[in-house]
Amino acid sequence: MNKPAVFVTRKIAPSATARLAEIAQVEVWPHEDPPPYTLLQERSGTADAIITLLTDKIDAHLIENAGKQLKIISQMAVGFDNIDVAAATRRGIAVGNTPGVLTETTADFTWALLMAAARRVVESDKEVRAGVWRSWGPDVLTGYDIYQSTLGIIGFGRIGQAVARRANGFDMRILYNDPDCGKVEAGLGAECASLDELLSQSDFVTLHVYYSKETHHMIGREQLQMMKPTAILINTARGPVVEPEALLWALSNGIIAGAALDVTEPEPILRSSPLLALPNIIITPHIASASKATRERMAQIAVDNVIAGLSGEPLPHCANPDVYR
Ligand code: DGY
Repeated sequence: MNKPAVFVTRKIAPSATARLAEIAQVEVWPHEDPPPYTLLQERSGTADAIITLLTDKIDAHLIENAGKQLKIISQMAVGFDNIDVAAATRRGIAVGNTPGVLTETTADFTWALLMAAARRVVESDKEVRAGVWRSWGPDVLTGYDIYQSTLGIIGFGRIGQAVARRANGFDMRILYNDPDCGKVEAGLGAECASLDELLSQSDFVTLHVYYSKETHHMIGREQLQMMKPTAILINTARGPVVEPEALLWALSNGIIAGAALDVTEPEPILRSSPLLALPNIIITPHIASASKATRERMAQIAVDNVIAGLSGEPLPHCANPDVYR
């Protein structure tokens, strides 16, 4: 009997691909750039399962025109806003994701950005390399204290809570805003706050919401204007949660002190973006989950989802459990 066909849209951990190859005919897209949309369309006509990354656009058009054999879309990420999950459910295609395994790694990186922005680590490094730094000086590269400051966490799911746990070590006041406000603060010392309260009282505001119509540009001019002029915004969630023009305005006009973004709109950020010319912003290339161990675990879970689905079992990490009703 022919083995089922699985298309993997990028090279993932070899040990994960090897597990897959035991039960399936595996094709891996070998390039660093994502496969073109037309190729995804083609493979959705022949593959039984596709392992996708957040850079692959799996929209309603692609899903509705996929072959009947396609039963699993397994995303190697916790977020899946690149996939039209409702369209997949309508077509009876299970969508998998990789929650949990990247929580701590992403929280670590959120802190790396927060600390780097507060203490101007990237600017300092650039000055040393450029020979601009001449001497220790009372005002040289002064930044903001983290300890005993106020941290505002927008989105208090797994990652938001992991960020809060780390803040306790810095003796910070922790505010959070979440639709589940009031239900999840036990043990973390975090206080539930309205968005306005959080924005106006926090020294650091960090975003951990899912991307959706509701969170699109949820941080715009009005919200930035509410923040302290000494505050720093950190985004490791999704780029379009922050309106780029508003952020440019806020950073260029002293409305807020700084920002650190691991995610941008668009991604990659355009080389012509005026944000790149500002000294008070740090931009990294969507690497918050990029520890070697975590990327390996994400690949294994993406493969677990495919193996379960191909064996006729529910995906262990399913983004659309309704598909089984
Ligand atoms: C995710 O998993 O959604 C992150 O953005 C990438 O690790």
